[in-house]
Amino acid sequence: MTLNNFNFTKSNGYSALQILAEGIGEVRISDLLTDPERIDKYTLSCLGVTLDYSKNLVTNEVLDGLLALAEESLLVATREKMFRGEAINSSEQRPVLHTALRAKRQSLIDDNLSELAANIAEQRARVQVVSEKIRNGQWLGSTGKPITDVINLGIGGSDLGPKLVCEALKSFHHEDIRCHFVSNVDGEVIHSCLATLNPETTLIIISSKTFTTQETLLNATTAANWLREHLDLDNPFASRHFIGVTASPQNAIKLGLPESQLLKFWDWVGGRYSLWSSIGLSIAISVGYDNFEALLEGAEAMDDHFRHKPLSENMPVILALLGIWYSNFLDGESQAVIPYCERLCHFPFYLQQLDMESNGKGVTLDGRSVDYSTGPVIWGLTGTNGQHSFFQLLHQGTHLIPVDFIGVINDEMSSPDHHRVLLANMLAQSAALMAGKQDVELPAYQFYPGNRPSNVMLLDQLTPQNLGALIALYEHKVFVQGCIWNVNSFDQWGVELGKVLASGLLSESRDDSYLDLSTRALLAKIEQPKDSG
Ligand code: F6P
Repeated sequence: MTLNNFNFTKSNGYSALQILAEGIGEVRISDLLTDPERIDKYTLSCLGVTLDYSKNLVTNEVLDGLLALAEESLLVATREKMFRGEAINSSEQRPVLHTALRAKRQSLIDDNLSELAANIAEQRARVQVVSEKIRNGQWLGSTGKPITDVINLGIGGSDLGPKLVCEALKSFHHEDIRCHFVSNVDGEVIHSCLATLNPETTLIIISSKTFTTQETLLNATTAANWLREHLDLDNPFASRHFIGVTASPQNAIKLGLPESQLLKFWDWVGGRYSLWSSIGLSIAISVGYDNFEALLEGAEAMDDHFRHKPLSENMPVILALLGIWYSNFLDGESQAVIPYCERLCHFPFYLQQLDMESNGKGVTLDGRSVDYSTGPVIWGLTGTNGQHSFFQLLHQGTHLIPVDFIGVINDEMSSPDHHRVLLANMLAQSAALMAGKQDVELPAYQFYPGNRPSNVMLLDQLTPQNLGALIALYEHKVFVQGCIWNVNSFDQWGVELGKVLASGLLSESRDDSYLDLSTRALLAKIEQPKDSG
């Protein structure tokens, strides 16, 4: 593929924005908000998701400058390459086609992808058949009993997406089947989970794109031993208690899973973009296949919006450009995401992988070290909990931290008295960060500088469609930023080195002489015989 050689800091857009950034210290967001046209101009919607970005430290001129930067970059061309299936993941020579997993509209399926669309439909049909069998009590364990508990064993993208969605769509849960998520290799987690379950009615989904991930394979072995012990099975992996979901079926078969119990996806689905693939099996089991499809439809609506709306009306593009403004022109180093909905409690963690594994990069697509900030630190917690922990720093601390607030307008799982309080708090926080309070009569510690930016995103309801659209919104935001920073948002070489070193430490033939003195001393402390301590 041709290299993306857009040079961010040498672009005209960059120089123009640098000049605008010099003058921004004089601007108060509260003054900008006196413009009666600002709310309309700074509000966008797609499906049941509305974004109000009026409380950002951006003038119309800055916004135009950011849009000009986006036009000057290779964003539009690269977006087309992604949707068309060109190998934009250059370090792994792969296309990036999570959008194809949810594409039904003709406008989103390019002619060259029709064969792929057929394969996707085939696997989706498998997800439907398997999930329905489990939900209807027709998938029986080895002693003939229906499944009551499903454990998704996976980590990173094979855990975070399905876990986020299953929790968020709690109101749609199957009454008699519970889904559990085990990711960490910390043995306490799998042992505690198994201890609460009946092996006869437990189904374990090994979710792993590669089927080589150490944590997942060790957890799977522990679960298999538990089943072997309790159900007297020779090869638990071959029993009806295991399903594998993978892009490397050969590795799953090597472990002992029969091909008939494998659901597949493809190497062109990045782990952090995989919840839309067969990796979403736990979602379909938990909330029903129709709701899984509705989730995909919501994401597809956002894909359509992203691909076809002009940049100035394009929600992912606007979110991305605001992030670039703070990161690269106003020295913001992090971004907080605060959902005012407890069922979205996993969203900040999901976004951490999506954003930081994608754009935590220091080298451009054409191999240069970057001389500017790339992906920010993403963090957050649900409101109002966050208000009682770190909001102090947001209001009076010394860092510039833009915040994304996410609220749900109608929540049938709450009650009007609670919900009013919850949303009032969200609006109050966004307004307080923006306006602050500058009363010279009061002591300095009661000075609130304000002028702190935030977006407010409102979902009409927490439906599968709206959730799908919200997740896809952030996927595309990350993509847009990667295009402007000119990095490969679809590989993750940074996580490899640690994996290799951990394997070295676990190797039987470990040679400690290669270890640094600190690691050697710590190992000695960990490995010293128990009675000598
Ligand atoms: O930590 C790196 C990573 O490769 C992630 O990108 C991925 O989501 C996770 O590990 C799990 O990988 P797998 O699905 O292959 O087990």
